[in-house]
Amino acid sequence: MIYKTLQVEVVGRVVLIRLNRPEALNALNAAMAEELARVVARFEPDEGVGCFVLTGSDKAFAAGADIKEMAPRTFIENLSEDYMASWDSAARLRKPVIAAVAGFALGGGCELAMQCDFIIAADNAKFGQPEIKLGVIPGLGATQRLTRAVGKAKAMELILSGRMMGAEEAERAGLVARVVPLAKLVEEAMKTAQAIAGMPTAALMSAKETVGRAFETPLAEGLRFERRVFQALFGTPDQREGMSAFMEKRTARFHESKAAE
Ligand code: CAA
Repeated sequence: MIYKTLQVEVVGRVVLIRLNRPEALNALNAAMAEELARVVARFEPDEGVGCFVLTGSDKAFAAGADIKEMAPRTFIENLSEDYMASWDSAARLRKPVIAAVAGFALGGGCELAMQCDFIIAADNAKFGQPEIKLGVIPGLGATQRLTRAVGKAKAMELILSGRMMGAEEAERAGLVARVVPLAKLVEEAMKTAQAIAGMPTAALMSAKETVGRAFETPLAEGLRFERRVFQALFGTPDQREGMSAFMEKRTARFHESKAAE
């Protein structure tokens, strides 16, 4: 498939998606939302795919929603089209997705990274929610996801002031899983993604869904859900294979004949 705003590459069981609008620091426009949705629809059901990596360039993961495209919009248009609702492809992925962030991850860019399961950041990454300076507020999840990730005090400070924070601060705050040198960003993210993609698919998808419940349900409900999913996974061949392999002191074979098309 040909994409105007993305570069898509399948490496083993991992789909590497690069946001590719260098002329606008990968600003998120309508074409990109539509293409990202197409990539997800194309690859998520593929049994040969176990994990996604979403990245940008060395200079920018994404500098936010495309301000030039957004500026003339009206309230009525936004309401009737449910503006920004189509930017939920990464959040809807049921297989794991890692954001590999270098450079600017601002506004919708930071929010897109937060839609992923975790963020690996290059040491030059800069995160921020500068929407306040444009007379609006974040519209792609930051008031909720950033607050859950870093707590109220820091989320308020970032969203109310619009200031950027660097990779080290983002890691200390819990927004970022790991910081790596810029030159190693994609390599490290792909290595992590390949390791994840080698895990049994039903367990991966179940683990992801169950951790997600921690943000949506009371504790008792989440614990009950976890226990049921844990119990159900004993109905999968992968549980038989994983536990037999351990006892037989050999490597488990989970995906031997499944490669992405
Ligand atoms: N939308 C559209 N174009 C953008 C853009 C954006 N968000 N960010 C950068 N660009 C464009 C610039 O207009 C410029 O294009 P031209 O050369 O044609 O003028 C090109 O990308 C390079 O940008 P700069 O020259 O500004 O690069 P810089 O290195 O001097 O500055 C920057 C980098 C600090 C990131 C600066 O570009 C900037 O502040 N960008 C806007 C960041 C922002 O406000 N993001 C939030 C958007 S609103 C949002 O995302 C809402 C939401 O929650 C969904």
